[in-house]
Amino acid sequence: MKNFIFQNPTKLVFGKGQIEKLSELIPLDVNLLITYGGGSVTKNGVYDQVKKALKGRSYTEFWGIEPNPRVETLRRAIALGKVKEINYILAVGGGSVLDGTKLIAAGIVSDKDAWEIVLSGVAENQIPFASVMTVPATGSEMNGGAVITREETHEKFSFGGDYPQFSILDPEVTYSLSDHQIACGLADAYTHVLEQYMTTTGQSRIMDRWAEGLLLSIIEIAPKIKESPNDYELMADYMLSATLALNDFIRMGISQDWATHQIGHELTALHGITHGHSLAIVMPGTLRELKVQKHDKLLQYGERIFNITEGTEEVRVNKAIEKTEEFYRSLGLTTRLSEENVGEDTIETIARRFNDRGVAYGENRNVTGDVAREILRKCI
Ligand code: NZQ
Ligand code: ZN
Repeated sequence: MKNFIFQNPTKLVFGKGQIEKLSELIPLDVNLLITYGGGSVTKNGVYDQVKKALKGRSYTEFWGIEPNPRVETLRRAIALGKVKEINYILAVGGGSVLDGTKLIAAGIVSDKDAWEIVLSGVAENQIPFASVMTVPATGSEMNGGAVITREETHEKFSFGGDYPQFSILDPEVTYSLSDHQIACGLADAYTHVLEQYMTTTGQSRIMDRWAEGLLLSIIEIAPKIKESPNDYELMADYMLSATLALNDFIRMGISQDWATHQIGHELTALHGITHGHSLAIVMPGTLRELKVQKHDKLLQYGERIFNITEGTEEVRVNKAIEKTEEFYRSLGLTTRLSEENVGEDTIETIARRFNDRGVAYGENRNVTGDVAREILRKCI
C-alpha cells in the first residue's frame, strides 16, 4: 500500500424528506446563490421542497446549467455571483449542476477566466458550496472533482478543488429519472469502481473487498431497479453506491486507471454521448486492449464478481471481459462505437488530441494517444 492522506469533509444527509434540513444546514449569515439545471426540479417537486425549506430567506437563483456543464454558461453565473457578492452556493440537480457550481465557486473569487481555472487542474480558492443531489452517478456530491465542457472547441476537462460542505441525498428524488438516466448512472458508478480497482492485485485487501462489495451490489440491484424504479430501498442502495464509488474511500493507497474516463470524455465532447454511456462503450475496449497488463486483476475480478473459475487463465480473463460488457448491455446501453455511428475519423481525432497534449493515462501511465487508438478500435 502506498502512503496516503485521507480526508473527506462532506457531511452526508441521507434519506426521505431530508431536503427540509436545508434551513439548518446553510448558515444564516451568507449571501446565497442557488444553482439549477434545466427544470427537472420543478417537475418532480424538488424545487418546491427547497423553496419551502428556505422560506423567509433571501437568495439569488441561477438556472440553466446544462448536462455536461458549459464554461460559456458558467461564466455568466460567475459574473452574476461577483455582482451580487455571493459567498455560498447551493447546487440543486445532478452532477452537472454541482460540477458547474464548483467552477462558479472558484470563479467568483478569481480574476482568471473560468476556462483557465479548469485548465490549471486545481481551483486554488473556492467559496463554500453544498448540494441537493438528484442523480446518483458521479459522486460529485462527496468529492472534490468537476468536469467542464467548452462548447466552442468541443473539449471536456476536469479540475479538482474543495468538497461540498454537505450533500442531501433523498432517494425519493430519483423516482423521476428516466430509464436511460438510471442506466447511465449505474454504468458511471460501476465504472468508477473499476477505474480504481482494475489495476494490479495485492495492493490492498481492504480496498479490493470494498470495491468488490460495490460492484456486487450494483450488479444485484440493477435488474431489480429496472423492474421497480420506485422502490425506496433499491434506490437508496443505488444512491449510496454511486456516492461511495467516487468519494475517495475505495482508493486509499492504491494505483488508479481513469483512461476509460478520459477517452469517454472525448466521445461526449465530440458526439454528445451521455457520460455513463460513453464508459459502457470504452471500458470493455480498455480491458480487451490492456488484458495482459491487467491479467491478474481480471482473474480475481472474474472469480469474485462473476464466479468464473473454469477454464484456462486466458479463457477466464476473456470471460470476465465479456461479462463486463454483458453487464453494461443488461442496463440497456449499447457498448460499441458502431452502434452509435462513431467511426475511424473520431478515433483518429481522439488519438491525435491525446498525442498533441502529450498525455498518458492509466495506472502505468502508458495510455497515450496511440494506445487510446487501439482501445477505441477494440470498441468498434
Ligand atoms: O437539467 P435538469 O432539468 O435538472 O435535468 C437533468 C439533466 O437533463 C436531469 N435530471 C437531474 N435530476 C433528475 C433529472 N431528471 C429527472 N429526475 C431527476 N431527479 O438529468 C439530466 C442529466 O443530468 P446530469 O447532471 O448531466 O447527470 P449526471 O449526474 O450523470 O452528471 C454528468 C456530468 O458529471 C460529470 C460528467 O462528465 C458529466 O459532465 N462527472 C463528474 C464527476 C465528478 N464531479 O466527480 C465524475 C464523473 O466521472 C463524471 O465525469
Ligand atoms: Zn464517471
